[in-house]
Amino acid sequence: MSTSRIPGFHNLTREERLAKVADLAGLDAAQVAHLTAAAAHDGDLADHLSENVISVMAVPLGVATNLIVDGAEVLVPMASEESSVVAAVCNGARACREAGGIVTQADDPCMIAQVQVTGLDDLEAARAAVLAQKQAIAAECDGCDPMLVRLGGGFRDVEVRIAGPFLVVHLIVDVRDAMGANAVNTMAERLAPKIEGWTGGKVGLRILSNLADRRLVRARATWPADEIGAETVAGIIGAWEFAAHDPYRAATHNKGIMNGVAAVALATGNDTRALEAGAHAFAAKDGYGPLTRYWIEGADLVGEIEMPMPVGIVGGATRAHPTAQASLRIMGVETADRLARVMAAVGLVQNFSALRALATEGIQRGHMGLHARNVAIAAGASGDEIDRVAAEMIARGEIREDVARELLV
Ligand code: MEV
Repeated sequence: MSTSRIPGFHNLTREERLAKVADLAGLDAAQVAHLTAAAAHDGDLADHLSENVISVMAVPLGVATNLIVDGAEVLVPMASEESSVVAAVCNGARACREAGGIVTQADDPCMIAQVQVTGLDDLEAARAAVLAQKQAIAAECDGCDPMLVRLGGGFRDVEVRIAGPFLVVHLIVDVRDAMGANAVNTMAERLAPKIEGWTGGKVGLRILSNLADRRLVRARATWPADEIGAETVAGIIGAWEFAAHDPYRAATHNKGIMNGVAAVALATGNDTRALEAGAHAFAAKDGYGPLTRYWIEGADLVGEIEMPMPVGIVGGATRAHPTAQASLRIMGVETADRLARVMAAVGLVQNFSALRALATEGIQRGHMGLHARNVAIAAGASGDEIDRVAAEMIARGEIREDVARELLV
């Protein structure tokens, strides 16, 4: 790369940007044609959503079947490039249908905005000074967003924490159907000068916290031993215990949960990174551990998940992206609360399926078929050739691109 400095890059058209990058990176004509074609439909939308756009990266949108959440059947769109993720939800959801599916509980959709106050000598006095202004804080916050208040949301509480040398003011705001970042960040910024006046300190950062622990969702399901077998029940309990004792395992356990949660988030235009940050920070509150737990009732397996779920159905990409709108429609979701509950259900079921596979035959058998197909495609297979080449590679126990190429000729 001769240079990464391209003055005025963002002012170019998408085609001009692509040509520039192709030139600098030495893309061949087929690669340029691919990137151009990939943006043919949604390129303009992508240009509006982000910056310096040259094309669109398409991710498969699958639909998980078999879910019953709080007594209602639901089809769940999931955007994920990873194989087995959608299938895992379908299988795990089917196995708990007989016992009623997944039952959820959710907190009110409250987000936390943080205002950091620096330069204070007497933190306790400053804390008391802020708490004494609760009514003024409520009025200022609600004044920022009268529409939110009309919809039943708005300021709920103020908390003041001491974190090292800093005073940290938490504004707790019910954001209703929004993810809420914009709403609470505006409030935090608006309130900052007043907080400086009350405390005599200097405000530093004003931003929401992704540790959204005022917006928790819980989901629970029962998998009958008759359905999954007593050995699987014991195996899943053992797999969960491993995660409960070992953060190295818990990280992978929670990654599997987020395979499901993030896929629904992406399909609905929600902020996958906010969810990841919140989930892992919540999992680490008392020493890093699993977001789910399992136990036996009678002979049956019961599983439960608890995690923050800061998602919205208004604003941002959710409103702007037609695929996100279609995804909400497929789910029949009309509130952020319902979306959060369905996502928690997906996280739980995803985890159940991962643990079931790990505790029994391992995940590689299922993964290998899909992996072999990807390798065949990368080697140039198309149509019926994909399955033929994949099956042959699996039979030989050699899943490699050079083998696939050899099988193609
Ligand atoms: C792979 O993406 C996810 C798993 O590793 C999750 C787990 O180990 O629980 C299968």
